[in-house]
Amino acid sequence: MTRSLRFGLVGTGHWARITHAPALASTDGIEFAAVWGRNADAAADLAASYGATAHHDLTAFLADVDAVAFAVPPDVQAPIATRAASAGKHLLLEKPIAISMAHADALASAVEQAQVASVVFFTARFQADTRAWLAEVTATGGWAGGSAVWLGTAWQAGNPFNTPWRRDKGGLWDLGPHVVSLLWASLGPVRSVTARAGRADITHLILGHENGATSTVTVTLSAPESAEFDDLYLWGQAGRSPAPVETEQAVVPLRTALSELAANARSGQVSHPCDVQFGRDVGRVLSEAQRQIGAHPSP
Ligand SMILES: NC(=O)c1ccc[n+]([C@@H]2O[C@H](COP(=O)([O-])OP(=O)(O)OC[C@H]3O[C@@H](n4cnc5c(N)ncnc54)[C@H](OP(=O)(O)O)[C@@H]3O)[C@@H](O)[C@H]2O)c1
Repeated sequence: MTRSLRFGLVGTGHWARITHAPALASTDGIEFAAVWGRNADAAADLAASYGATAHHDLTAFLADVDAVAFAVPPDVQAPIATRAASAGKHLLLEKPIAISMAHADALASAVEQAQVASVVFFTARFQADTRAWLAEVTATGGWAGGSAVWLGTAWQAGNPFNTPWRRDKGGLWDLGPHVVSLLWASLGPVRSVTARAGRADITHLILGHENGATSTVTVTLSAPESAEFDDLYLWGQAGRSPAPVETEQAVVPLRTALSELAANARSGQVSHPCDVQFGRDVGRVLSEAQRQIGAHPSP
């Protein structure tokens, strides 16, 4: 019988509690073994709920596990994940993999050097209905373009995702990774981006895809709840094809991501359609968009 892969969780916040911990505890073939968080009480509480070990020392945490799942802000994730990869641990990363491209490059190089498996949790890419849609639209082909609009409400008071890094980085870095990942997978690799900012964190992108298709994106976290909206579609000779909306039950797709990561870790397969290299490719698009917005601030 194959030994269960021992997973550790980095982070003890809302997303760690409602999604990562339950998925880690309910995925076949893996063991939820350890928790690390900067808040020792929160780590102890979360670990105790699942019979895992709480660690305050990162070196001891890494020594206790085979793989690490992350639920911390991107600029916190990247350096810890780089250290974990260098220690030979497989990685379940959150999007975006980093904010700075220097961090993203260092992480991708550490993964490549250590030859560990990696998966970035672009949620929709692990949803069964979205995978069926992707298979259908890529088989159909001939799409002229796409459009994605995600009016998120995370900046509203009382929203559990109203966290410091989201208030700082906005929709481009929180929702942008999901949307770019899906347009990339459906229309082909993104080769250019033109970005403009609106009020608050409102961000508009025009993406140029390798095959000549173009797509447009609008993302924000500052929409009022009455305007909340999420929509992505492709259009072309075959008509208009809307993607399934993102699930609210992310535990299910996260189990899929964990199972695929564990299977790769066991077989020695390090590449995955949503691996750290793809996470870095998506990050490059966001980083270039951020550069343009910095050069042309909103009026
Ligand atoms: N794939 C998806 O659909 C999806 C959905 C939601 C979130 N996410 C991702 O999940 C990650 C976590 O999101 P979140 O909403 O839980 O909130 P968050 O604010 O991004 O992270 C909360 C956790 O990070 C810890 N933390 C914050 N700053 C830290 C630092 N400097 N050093 C060490 N730990 C630090 C917090 O510790 P304290 O409790 O001590 O503050 C808490 O445990 C993000 O990368 C986000 O993009 C993905």
